[in-house]
Amino acid sequence: RSNTMWGGRYKLGPAEIMEKINASIGFDRRLYAQDIAGSVAHCDMLVAQGILTAKDGRAIKRGLAQVKAEIESGKFKFSTKLEDIHFNVEQRLTDIIGPAGGRLHTARSRNDQIALDVRLWVRDTIDKVELMLRDLQAALIDRADQYSSTIMPGFTHLQTAQPITFGHHLMAYVEMFGRDRSRFADCRARLNESPLGAAALAGSPHPIDPRKTAKALGFERPMANSLDAVSDRDYVIEFISAASTTAVHLSRLSEEIVIWCSAPFRFISLSDAFTTGSSIMPQKRNPDAAELTRAKVGRIVGAFVALCTILKGLPLTYGKDMQEDKEPLFDAADSLELGIAAMTGMIRDLKANPERMRAVASADYSVATDLADWLVRKVGLPFRQAHHVTGRLVGIAADKGIDLDKLSLEEMQAVEPKIDRSVYRVLTVEASVNARKSLGGTAPANVVRAVADARRRFLDK
Ligand code: ARG
Repeated sequence: RSNTMWGGRYKLGPAEIMEKINASIGFDRRLYAQDIAGSVAHCDMLVAQGILTAKDGRAIKRGLAQVKAEIESGKFKFSTKLEDIHFNVEQRLTDIIGPAGGRLHTARSRNDQIALDVRLWVRDTIDKVELMLRDLQAALIDRADQYSSTIMPGFTHLQTAQPITFGHHLMAYVEMFGRDRSRFADCRARLNESPLGAAALAGSPHPIDPRKTAKALGFERPMANSLDAVSDRDYVIEFISAASTTAVHLSRLSEEIVIWCSAPFRFISLSDAFTTGSSIMPQKRNPDAAELTRAKVGRIVGAFVALCTILKGLPLTYGKDMQEDKEPLFDAADSLELGIAAMTGMIRDLKANPERMRAVASADYSVATDLADWLVRKVGLPFRQAHHVTGRLVGIAADKGIDLDKLSLEEMQAVEPKIDRSVYRVLTVEASVNARKSLGGTAPANVVRAVADARRRFLDK
């Protein structure tokens, strides 16, 4: 039997494989709420414009409400024969209210309908992700507050560089996730135009008012060009691009958590709630959540590549290729949400090991730069020369297997006679971090201020 939707022209039904490759209901059923919200707005507009009678409009809205309730209660029977969410909803609507159901699709096509549904879905998802990122920032800020003066080694090349504070390190991620939030906000602002009214591609001969549907659905305005309206998926690319950047940040923080949890580091520990054991090695506590969050970026960047590849070279306007946007989009969004939630959980769960962090921060001549800076400030050496003098002192200490502050004054003066006793004051990790009060620097006093600033900048709105 031919499809009821285009049965006029068709005598035969589709081949089995045609139905299989064509059907999207398996995944686009996730758009049911957006699809029905769009239909309600479209129906109201048709009534207001005198295209539908008020009576039909009421029946349609009643029917749509019932369809929605059936889907939400799990009673709805989705059919692959009906291809996608649009036909499934429309068919059920007509079953419930009769032929008036067939009037809903006046001045509309599945092309502007799907463009609308995906736009609404991405917008809803952005709103959710925004809140989740804010929550993650709140968790990081709380931790930074707690560990504002906890000293740890700062690394470059993963080699001990200079002492920093754990709070300062965590606040770096607060900034990253803040930029991520603003990228999502930018994407939201740009996507917030309604494609409804474009119909199949060229617009509609009916006296429709796209401004009405746009307003009803919370859009800034209708899209200016009908061809663009049905073929634009920029906002999907943009969303996944913002998701990719966020996933990169999550991955970097995850990697640090994995490193910090490892036995050679022992900077932090995660509780039973965020680790798993091994089936063979009884002593193991593996940071699986961090590892999985570290890996999610693969799927998300994969989705970005998929979307760009699907859309590249696609002639205007709609092509069924575009149906392939949904699975990568959904997967990217799901992966992102999972990653953010897991990270928020880990940040709230983790416990630092300040003694261990301080011990590692004190080793490996991490205060060498402080000595060089002291030589510049107190002795008046040019920085290059101070660097050289310090390098020699580090060499002497390393040969003896001792820290810089264990060198005697005589040993130091043998290299640079103008060194005096006050040098020892800068050779501790506490002095090192306390001295770094320059704007954006790691000093505990700065972290306390950064925490207060961040609460205002990121959490008060
Ligand atoms: N399921 C389709 C999609 O996801 C809906 C639009 C179908 N339009 C069409 N002309 N076949 O893109």
